[in-house]
Amino acid sequence: MNKELAIQKYNEKIKRVIITEEEIKQAIKKAGEEIDASYDGRPILLISILNGAYVFLSDLSRAITVPSEIAFMRVKSYYQGTESSGKVTVLMDVDRDLSNYHVIVVEDIVDTGRTLKDVCALLKERNPLSLKVVALLDKPDRRIVDFNADKVLFTIPDFFVIGYGLDCDEYYRNLPYIAEYDSSK
Ligand code: IMP
Ligand code: MG
Repeated sequence: MNKELAIQKYNEKIKRVIITEEEIKQAIKKAGEEIDASYDGRPILLISILNGAYVFLSDLSRAITVPSEIAFMRVKSYYQGTESSGKVTVLMDVDRDLSNYHVIVVEDIVDTGRTLKDVCALLKERNPLSLKVVALLDKPDRRIVDFNADKVLFTIPDFFVIGYGLDCDEYYRNLPYIAEYDSSK
């Protein structure tokens, strides 16, 4: 396939923008102000789950003006059937003692809920001062396990979405908006 055709096919999969760059910016500004107001003066650790949440963390962390630290974690969630196993394999761990922090897990999307349910169970065992989850997106129609984030910026229907950190086979993470992915082409 020639280069132009490959790029054309890549772009054709971006079906339509469902959340614009400006809408994301406004929602993050508001979320940052809420965090500022409720955590003021307390030690905050924002934990981003890689890879999907890297863009969201980057913007959310800069919308927060009170003292805060960032850390990264990479996990693999295993499950049998429709139930979460409650066990996650940590591929890259947080390098901080959580008992010193109010932890805010920063995630791109809550889909079945398995990843966050397992991650929260694991982090709770480390006795953080408190533990909350902020997710950019939520697809409640897809939920399989009982899990809800403390704060969701956008609730969306059951679309496969790309952009702003979210990928399809590792592509499209760098789009500045959230788009529906077209799997029909
Ligand atoms: P869960 O454990 O099923 O909630 O899965 C959450 C993970 O699945 C997210 O962190 C994403 O990496 C991925 N995911 C779920 N839905 C989408 C989507 O629509 N687009 C891209 N990635 C998704
Ligand atoms: Mg992810």
